[in-house]
Amino acid sequence: MNAPAPTQDELKAMVGQAALAYVPRGEIVGVGTGSTVNKFIEALATIKGEIRGAVSSSVASTERLRALGIEVFDSNAVDELAVYIDGADEIDGRGFMVKGGGAALTREKIVAAQSRRFVCIADASKRVDVLGAFPLPVEVIPMAARRIMRQFAALGGVAQVREKDGAPLVTDNGQHILDVSGLAIADPLGFESEVNQWPGVVTVGVFAHQKADVCLLAAPQGVQTLSFG
Ligand code: 5RP
Repeated sequence: MNAPAPTQDELKAMVGQAALAYVPRGEIVGVGTGSTVNKFIEALATIKGEIRGAVSSSVASTERLRALGIEVFDSNAVDELAVYIDGADEIDGRGFMVKGGGAALTREKIVAAQSRRFVCIADASKRVDVLGAFPLPVEVIPMAARRIMRQFAALGGVAQVREKDGAPLVTDNGQHILDVSGLAIADPLGFESEVNQWPGVVTVGVFAHQKADVCLLAAPQGVQTLSFG
């Protein structure tokens, strides 16, 4: 009889474990946010004696890291990180990503920008040809939300304010998130540059300027490594 296919949770654990091969020993590691990263944090705790600590991209990841005995450094206390390890909501064939499903996109982009290498960890369902099927997260200053929603409508997108417990979700930075459906992002670099300069946009969840260098993609057959150079 064939073994049962691994669950989504098991795939995330596989890729979280595989990411340890990219962690430089004796250094500080950039750590992302989300359910896949939570598996990576569990794996990281097993080698915590071999690293100096982490720079974290969210309050949630910071709490998990600390609970497992991993020291968390302020990003301003570290000039450059060798590696940043994070998940994605979508990743294309060039390493461009949509991120922000966990509302941590701004801090994720900050830590990615201070890292020499971005290692994306995901399961194979995240691999797409064109970004945009997953509603694009955009962190915005609340007073600009309506106008930014109209700007997305002009591009064919439908934006909604993300809610939690019946009220707008408030990010770690005290701002709101728009989720924009109906976009097909054919030029991620140009799209990210354009939306980033709309007044009131804090961060757009397209990671093209901070793309992945490597993606570890978990599938039932095992972990596949994609390199984007
Ligand atoms: C959080 C993110 C996450 O990396 C992304 O949403 C993927 O999460 P998960 O691993 O839970 O699928 O960008 O802001």
